[in-house]
Amino acid sequence: MCGIVGYIGKGQAKPILLQGLKHLEYRGYDSAGIAVWGKNGLQILKTHGRVEDLSQQASTWEGEGNLGIGHTRWATHGKPSKKNAHPHISADGQVILTHNGILENYLQVKQTLQLEGWSFSSDTDTEVIANWLAKLFQLHNQDPIATLTDFLGQAQGSFALAILFRNFPNRLFALRKESPLVVGIGEGENFLASDLPPLLLHTRRVYYMENGEIACLQADKVAFYSDKGELLSKKAEEISWQTEKMDKGKYPHFMLKEIHEQPEAVARTLRYLREGGMDCAKHWLKNVEQLTIIGCGSSYHVGIALQYAIERLCQLPVRVELASEFRYREIPMQGLVVAISQSGETADTLAALRKAKKGGCATLAIVNVVGSAIAREADCALYTQAGMEIAVATTKAYLTQLITGYYLAVQLAVERGSIDVFQARCLLADLLDLPEKIKEILRQKEAIHRLAKRWKDMQYCFFIGRGMDYAVSMEGSLKLKEISYIPAEAYAAGELKHGAISLIEPGTLVCCVCTQEGVFDKMRSNMQEVQSRGGELLTISIPGGVACDICLPKTEEMFMASLSVIPLQLFAYFVSVERGEDVDKPLNLAKSVTVE
Ligand code: G6P
Repeated sequence: MCGIVGYIGKGQAKPILLQGLKHLEYRGYDSAGIAVWGKNGLQILKTHGRVEDLSQQASTWEGEGNLGIGHTRWATHGKPSKKNAHPHISADGQVILTHNGILENYLQVKQTLQLEGWSFSSDTDTEVIANWLAKLFQLHNQDPIATLTDFLGQAQGSFALAILFRNFPNRLFALRKESPLVVGIGEGENFLASDLPPLLLHTRRVYYMENGEIACLQADKVAFYSDKGELLSKKAEEISWQTEKMDKGKYPHFMLKEIHEQPEAVARTLRYLREGGMDCAKHWLKNVEQLTIIGCGSSYHVGIALQYAIERLCQLPVRVELASEFRYREIPMQGLVVAISQSGETADTLAALRKAKKGGCATLAIVNVVGSAIAREADCALYTQAGMEIAVATTKAYLTQLITGYYLAVQLAVERGSIDVFQARCLLADLLDLPEKIKEILRQKEAIHRLAKRWKDMQYCFFIGRGMDYAVSMEGSLKLKEISYIPAEAYAAGELKHGAISLIEPGTLVCCVCTQEGVFDKMRSNMQEVQSRGGELLTISIPGGVACDICLPKTEEMFMASLSVIPLQLFAYFVSVERGEDVDKPLNLAKSVTVE
C-alpha cells in the first residue's frame, strides 16, 4: 500500500527519492510523486502511473535540492489520478506532505475547513490533513511540534506522514499513528521510509517509529517526540541480517523467481527453527487449552491448512479467524492466539493481535519481516526465512508460514503428549525432505505451462478439495484470481452440490486437489458429478490417488499442502503470463495492507 520516502542531507534528494520509491513499488500503488526543496524553491512532480514514468519526467524537471519527500499512492479517498497523487500542499502553501493510511474523520474536518475558507483541489483525505495542519500551524504560532501533537490528539484513523513546513526549510518531519515508518541514519544525511528496502540502500542504522511518535530529521541529527511533545530518547537498531538484491535474476518475473526459491526458503526456515528459532515459543506452548489462528488473505489460508494439521496431531480444537472479522467480534477470549502475517504490518491482523493481548491471551506471531509491528507486539515472534518477497501474489512466504506452523504443531503435540519424541523425529524427517520434493514438482513446470495455455481463456473456474486439500484450494483460487482476473472459487468438495454445481456447464474447469487418502472415494464421486455435467477436470494428486494431471511426490499426509500448493502457484502464474497481465503488480492489490 502507499509508500513514503523522505530525504534530508548533503546529497541530491531527487535520485534518492526516486530510487527509494522504486524499492517500495512492491507494496502496490497506482500513482506516484515527489517534492524537492532547493534552489528553485519547492517543486512537485506527480504522475498517474509507474515510478518509471515519474523518473522519466524527472530527468528534465527542475526539482533540485537536498530535502524532499516522495510517495507511491494506493487510492483510498479519490480515484487514482495525477490530481489525487501525493505530495499535497495546503491552500496557504505552508504544509507539504505525503500520507499513508486513512484519516477517518476527514469529512467532518473538511466541512469545517471549507466553512473557514480553506480550498481543496483534490478528492483526498491527505489534502484535508495538509490544510488542517496549516490551520493548526497558524494557531500554534508556527511551532511544528505543537502543531503535530495537537493534530495527533484530534485525528482519527491510522496514518503515517512525511511533512515539510515551508518556514522550516532544513527540517523533515514525520509522524506515525499505526501505519509504519522507519528513520535511517546516515553520515550528514538522514532518510525516512515506510519500510526498510529504500533505507538499506544507504544505511543499516535505523529507528523504528512507534505509535504516536513524531520525528524531526535534520541533515546531521534526528529528534523524536512523544504525542505530548516531550523529547524522547530512542535507541537506534543495527540491521544485521543479510538483505537480498531486488532483482529478478534470470527470471522474467519476481513471482516465478520466488516460486523457484521455495526449496531453499523451506530449508532455511527449518534450519532456523531447529537452531533455536522456536525457543521463545516453548513457554507459551505449555497448557494450551484453546488455540486461535488469525490472519488475512493467504496468511489466513495458511491458518486453515494448519487447523487440519494441529487438530489431527495435537488433538486440540483450533479456531481460525479472518483478522478483519475477529477484531470486531464479541467473543470470550482465552488461550493462545497465533497471528500469521508476511509483512507483519497488516492493519487488521495487528488490530486483532492487540485485541487478543488486551483480552489476556498469550500471542505468537509467524512473521516474515523482522522488526515489523506484529513481530514486535506479539509475546513471541517466529520468523519465516522466506527472504524478501516482492511479487504481490505471495508464494514463498505462504509456504514458509506453513512450514513454521507444521513445526509448531509438532512441538505442541510433544508438549501435549499426543505424540512421543520418536514420532516427532519422524515428522521432522518428513519436513526436512520437503525441499527435494518441491524441486521435483518444479521440474513439472512445462507440463503445468501447457495446462495454463489450454485454460487461459476460461471465463471462470472452481477449485475443490476436502480437508487439507480444501485449504489449498482456497489458496489456489486466490492465486489465480488475483493475477489473472479470472473469477475463481474454492469449494469444499462436499459442498459443491449445495451451490456451485448449478454453474457447472460443458467446458467449465474444476481443479481438484486430492491428496488425503481417507477421502479419495468421496473425491472420485465429486469428480464424477462434475463430469456428468460436462465440466472438465484438472487433477492434482499422488500415486495411488485419483488419475492425475499433476502427480505429486508423497509426504506425510498432514504436510501435503506444502507440496500441492506448488502446481497451483505455477498454474496461476502461467495463466497470467499467457493472458499478458502484469504478473508482479496486479491491479488494485497491495503487498502490505496497512489500512482497514
Ligand atoms: C495482501 C497480500 C497477500 C497477503 C495479505 C495478508 O492481500 O497481497 O499476499 O496474504 O495481504 O498480508 P500479510 O502481510 O499479513 O501476510
